[in-house]
Amino acid sequence: MVEIIEILRQEHRNIEKLLRVMEQELSVFDRGERPDYEVFGAVIEFFKKYPDSCHHPKEDIIYEKFKARAPGRAMSIADLQAEHREGALRLRRVAQAIDSVLNDQELLRERVDRIVRDFIDNERKHIALEDEIIFPAIVDTLQPGDWADIALIMADRYGPPSEADFEEQFSTLRRNILELEEAAVARRL
Ligand SMILES: [Fe+2]
Ligand SMILES: [Fe+2]
Repeated sequence: MVEIIEILRQEHRNIEKLLRVMEQELSVFDRGERPDYEVFGAVIEFFKKYPDSCHHPKEDIIYEKFKARAPGRAMSIADLQAEHREGALRLRRVAQAIDSVLNDQELLRERVDRIVRDFIDNERKHIALEDEIIFPAIVDTLQPGDWADIALIMADRYGPPSEADFEEQFSTLRRNILELEEAAVARRL
């Protein structure tokens, strides 16, 4: 398997862990109890920054190459950038809904649930589309020379140590959230 695709798949698994955290906190909210809003907020902040700064740029590089090689096929599968924009919009709705809850504004529990679930479900659908349809199509289409070009672009963009640190910061943040969530779950037992 091409290394960059492996990296993206691993990032998807990491993203899924945070979606699970959000889903768990949502289920607490749905039961009428108080979720851990620190965790909720931290997951929202993570999703506000991480995908657009670390994950989507890598996908853009391989997708652009795919579009150049097989425009018809790429277009028939998905408009990746539009999907990413919609994800950001859904997240903004989540942030607003949680803010409203925290500010004691009237917002039906079902409505909050629907907004958060909409984000989680669509992120999962998007990841499945990439893992199961888009990445295999890209692997099928691109030639060794294309992957070499991609590796060069990646090294150029992600080579400097500052960028690596950037990714590391998000890994640390993600681990912290998972620990906070573990503690929150243990407290509720
Ligand atoms: Fe994506
Ligand atoms: Fe992705």
